[in-house]
Amino acid sequence: MNRLSPIRLAAIGCGGRSRAYLGLAAQAPEQFQVVAGADPNAHRVEQIRQLSDNPDFRSFQDDTALLAEPKLADVMVIGTQDAYHVTPCLAALKKGYDVLLEKPIAPSPEEVRFLQREAIGLGRRVMVCHVLRYTPFYEKVKELVVSGRIGELVSVHMTEGVQPWHYAHSYVRGHWSVRETSSPMILAKCCHDLDLLSWFVDRPCLRVSSFGGRRFFVPERRPEGAPDRCTKGCPVGDQCPYNALRYLNQHRHWLQQVMDGAQEADEPDIRRWLETSPWGRCVYACDNNVVDRQVLSLEFEAGINATFTMTAFDKGRNLELFGTEGVIRGGDVFRSQMGCDLIVEPHHGGPSEQVVVEEPGGGYDGHMGGDGGLVNQLYHEMREVSPEDMKSSLDRSVESHTMAFAADRARLEGRVVDLSEFQV
Ligand SMILES: NC(=O)c1ccc[n+]([C@@H]2O[C@H](COP(=O)([O-])OP(=O)(O)OC[C@H]3O[C@@H](n4cnc5c(N)ncnc54)[C@H](O)[C@@H]3O)[C@@H](O)[C@H]2O)c1
Repeated sequence: MNRLSPIRLAAIGCGGRSRAYLGLAAQAPEQFQVVAGADPNAHRVEQIRQLSDNPDFRSFQDDTALLAEPKLADVMVIGTQDAYHVTPCLAALKKGYDVLLEKPIAPSPEEVRFLQREAIGLGRRVMVCHVLRYTPFYEKVKELVVSGRIGELVSVHMTEGVQPWHYAHSYVRGHWSVRETSSPMILAKCCHDLDLLSWFVDRPCLRVSSFGGRRFFVPERRPEGAPDRCTKGCPVGDQCPYNALRYLNQHRHWLQQVMDGAQEADEPDIRRWLETSPWGRCVYACDNNVVDRQVLSLEFEAGINATFTMTAFDKGRNLELFGTEGVIRGGDVFRSQMGCDLIVEPHHGGPSEQVVVEEPGGGYDGHMGGDGGLVNQLYHEMREVSPEDMKSSLDRSVESHTMAFAADRARLEGRVVDLSEFQV
């Protein structure tokens, strides 16, 4: 790559994620040029073409067509769905592209390790979209841990509340509701949390135990007389918080992720779409099988331990980091209830400090500013740091993905899982 020229970006999969990154990249023309997109859905490629502001933008019908061309960009964004990351990623690496790869790397530990080996062999850069690492909030937490303000880190407690409507949208009706065709929930949603945990602790995770299941969005809870689709007139539709007709008003913004033309659609268009799309189904009559809550206990090197809770029934992420000389607490509950992001408490008395993290440019949209933060760092990560210093490299991400695979196995098999089981 020429250090002075912008990085040329192309995308395989032009859905919500690629649109977010490439839209942001197109706003920084001194660093990035958006040159091509591939997707069987021509409408989505066209959206990226429009965002690119590039008259020479090239459109392709899929990954095969794009990758059949001579190399036409520096970095390939892989924004396809979970089960179709490894094939296009590997083909792009072989063609000489560096890659910005959406998480999860792949749904199984075998595929993850396979891709890692191949990428090492090919000597190319792969940056995984662990966007939360690039938020001002989590960067501040990391800075506080590294500063030694709480002494030596000994225990961590983290929670993620997915939020009930979000859970129903994505994990009951949506793309990540069936583990066999997407990924286990602890990987699909919580690879971010496990990546952050791994980043804060900064030591290998050794063992994991885990419990969880699916209790709420199940057929047994389907109300008497509820049809399989909310559009068919449900006797309890008015009281049901998950009534798909709420996409017409209070939850309309969720459609942008899944319905082509959502922005321009009028009420009859949306009603018609709900009549046939997965998002019109009764939440108690879906084929979902991923967990709606899961808890993990994790042991790291040097005896550091951690707990993590994912639940559909809370909103936002919170954390507590316990050190030998103090505690850091923070997250969404602090932001909404206490007017600060974090509280640093010394153990042995003394005043606690409230920390307000500067709001990211563009506000808290886009994963708390992580989408923008990631794109801001993309140039640096791809061109300026050595591959082993990349903040969200494939190798680092494999570590935290392995924690997720271990948790999944621990939950399914009802035992403590040693991460060495995943070494090949
Ligand atoms: N980093 C994050 O925080 C974050 C957030 C949400 C989703 N994700 C992940 O990002 C990925 C994409 O999610 P999304 O919401 O953008 O999905 P999406 O369904 O909106 O987009 C995927 C696109 O891939 C296209 N596609 C399918 N086969 C293709 C092929 N052979 N060649 C080219 N394109 C093809 C589809 O037509 C679709 O437009 C998923 O793996 C998801 O888990 C990451």
